Amino acid sequence: MNREELRDYRRQNVPLFNAQKLKLGIFAVNCSGGSVITTAPTDRQITWDYNRSVVRLADALGMEVALPIGRWKGQGGPSNHNGTNFDVYTWAAGMAEATDRIMCFATSHVSLTHPVVAAKQAATIDHISNGRFGLNVVMGWFRDEMAMFGTGLREHDDRYRYGEEWLNIVKRLWTDTSPFDIESAYFNLAALESSPKPVQRPGPVLVNAGTSPAGIDFTARNVDVSFASPSKPDDIDRLRLVTQKADREYGRDVALMCSALVVCRETEAEARAAFQDILDNGDWIAARNMMATLGVESGSFKEGVDERARRFVAGYGTNPLVGTPEQIVDQLADYSRRGVHGVVFYFADYLTELAYFGERVMPLLKQTGLRH
Ligand SMILES: Cc1cc2nc3c(=O)[nH]c(=O)nc-3n(C[C@H](O)[C@H](O)[C@H](O)COP(=O)(O)O)c2cc1C
Repeated sequence: MNREELRDYRRQNVPLFNAQKLKLGIFAVNCSGGSVITTAPTDRQITWDYNRSVVRLADALGMEVALPIGRWKGQGGPSNHNGTNFDVYTWAAGMAEATDRIMCFATSHVSLTHPVVAAKQAATIDHISNGRFGLNVVMGWFRDEMAMFGTGLREHDDRYRYGEEWLNIVKRLWTDTSPFDIESAYFNLAALESSPKPVQRPGPVLVNAGTSPAGIDFTARNVDVSFASPSKPDDIDRLRLVTQKADREYGRDVALMCSALVVCRETEAEARAAFQDILDNGDWIAARNMMATLGVESGSFKEGVDERARRFVAGYGTNPLVGTPEQIVDQLADYSRRGVHGVVFYFADYLTELAYFGERVMPLLKQTGLRH
């Protein structure tokens, strides 16, 4: 399939490339705390019933993406943030069966799942969902998680070299019709084959969230969507450059998708108070553990003082969208104007806040032309 044929195919068949101006989705509903590192009271639960209800609601609202976080371990602290977490492939398979239109993703650590297994699981979920599966390819992020597998973390850029070989094998298993051998720096595999092929052609939509130079190059060369976490709206102008790099250097289309914590209420004061509640109950120990593992510098790590720590507690380091329904729409319109293809949301309590978003924000998004 050449570039134009792939564009046409995806526009017609793949929800993430449908005609909606701004694609929408939900992120991280499978992990305790999601993106808020807090002990603030919440009704949200890590149960299958709760997860399925949220994803079904997103599906009913016409959203395009349901994306889980790939986690294996919590961050410690009183909340042990993210410590209760559903497996991502089986989560996607269950959600695929429970929904009709939304794309169900898995977030797969390349070093933990053999490419033959990953290709087979992905193809199977693509059949369960009738072409609605997507794969977020991650290289390994938290060192102590990788220690659970005895593998450790490779040197940074080496992770991406390994990931590229891994992904090339997966892609060939999705498309090649004759057995093939692989002898490469990291793999020595004989007579590989996989059938059935995925429903999507040439395979499920691929995402990566790396924003280092090696991560950007990996994304531009290999996947369809760059998944970014702008810490302020202006960051988008830099993060968008991956789409130009893909186009100019590799003749490929890469879309920019962002994550964002949404705190939306009838009045700005209520929204700000709800946001402040997350911070006032912040689990600073878990946040500090997370930032230390990620190597994020924090000179004056004191409760409520360090801006970066606050951003981690309320939204995993991303720019939070806080305000009335009208203010949320204005902020999303700004994202869209800056070239963002889609936004996936975190909520402190997904079920109630997504229902509210559906009632109050979705109609306004339609009025502005971001959705129809
Ligand atoms: C929005 C977002 C979501 C991510 N989700 C996961 C995840 O679920 N599991 C994981 O191990 N890493 C996840 N990552 C980490 C990335 O895959 C990547 O390792 C990280 O962004 C650092 O990459 P870089 O050094 O190339 O910038 C996520 C990153 C971002 C920005």
